Amino acid sequence: MLLPEDDRFKIQLEGWLRSRHAFILLAASRGKNGFGTGTTPLRKEAEKKDILIGSGAINPAYLNDTQFATVLAQQFNSLSPENELKWNFIHPAADHYNWEPTDRLVDFAECNKMVVKGHGLISSCCNPDYLVNITDPALFRAAMTSHFEAIMHRYAGKMDRWDVVTEALATQGGGLQENDFYKVLGPNYIAEAFRIARAADADAKLFINENMVESLPGKRQELYDLVSGLVADNVPIDGVALQMHITEVPVVPGVITQMVSDYYALGLEVTIAELDVHTLNATLQTQIYGDVVDEALRAGITDISVWGFTDKHAYTWLPGAKPLMFNETYHAKGAFYAVHAALEDLVSAH
Ligand code: G3I
Repeated sequence: MLLPEDDRFKIQLEGWLRSRHAFILLAASRGKNGFGTGTTPLRKEAEKKDILIGSGAINPAYLNDTQFATVLAQQFNSLSPENELKWNFIHPAADHYNWEPTDRLVDFAECNKMVVKGHGLISSCCNPDYLVNITDPALFRAAMTSHFEAIMHRYAGKMDRWDVVTEALATQGGGLQENDFYKVLGPNYIAEAFRIARAADADAKLFINENMVESLPGKRQELYDLVSGLVADNVPIDGVALQMHITEVPVVPGVITQMVSDYYALGLEVTIAELDVHTLNATLQTQIYGDVVDEALRAGITDISVWGFTDKHAYTWLPGAKPLMFNETYHAKGAFYAVHAALEDLVSAH
């Protein structure tokens, strides 16, 4: 189904269903209003200030839905895959890489002048048996190196930044997660992963991605200690990606600003990588989206992504919650307008 043409926003569909890499080419949204929102697209406001506003959790299959593809390209200037770069999705057998889903996302981004963040090099799930059955550290390290090299070489110049390690810390804090990498390589797997990643792509920015540090002071300190230790050891890390999956409780004002300042002092960037707000209270949701983005922008964060944008494809652990900025039928919610206002209100470009 094609959306009605709007003279301020021309949509050009090209090659749809003609090839396995079907893509949508959206003529750059130069017009004033984003489709259906009554206001400018988020990316247009963001681009005035050199800010990335992205959506993660993009499953390439969703692009078959024209409305999904249209809103994604219209509102965001960055995307990242949901699971497609996690180990057993992209590399399901030792001798086989499944490139097509991720290639499709990259093509879509290129056609729509978006950048792509790589997510999933090391994640807390989705590791195949052929990897986890390796118990010899040297062989495990070799498998990790060739996996990183294959993926990062293929997408060099196409993915500008990566979550190298995701969820290194235990969910509630209290030490490192004893994940598949930790079990064989010990705590040094984190430093090793960053070194392998930097060698594979010297130009991409490399992030450690972590959850719940905005709400758990002890875990926040643990992450800081971990990251400052990496920096002291000259591990090639560019920044910290805060997931920001918020469940019902607002972030205490000042916490984001303090984190930005602490990591900036280490020479690192802070980004928001997976913002969403899980609550049954729509007013609270709007307020949290607005407050988080407003404080983040004022603190100097220039890279903010949500974990999906439509409740049609939301991943939530709170039954009944609709955590994203657009509803299931792609209508903008209060959260969208709060984020839009925060972008619009930001005075100076960083
Ligand atoms: O692909 C298998 C399929 O073969 C199988 O039949 C099916 C049965 O359950 O499972 C499918 O895999 C699921 C996968 O999503 C794809 O749908 C996994 O079970 C399921 O655990 C997985 O969930 C993902 C989750 O990460 C686990 O890694 C979510 O989609 C994804 O949104 C979520 O994303 C994470 C980020 O990577 C890191 N930060 C937190 C964020 C939200 O939890």
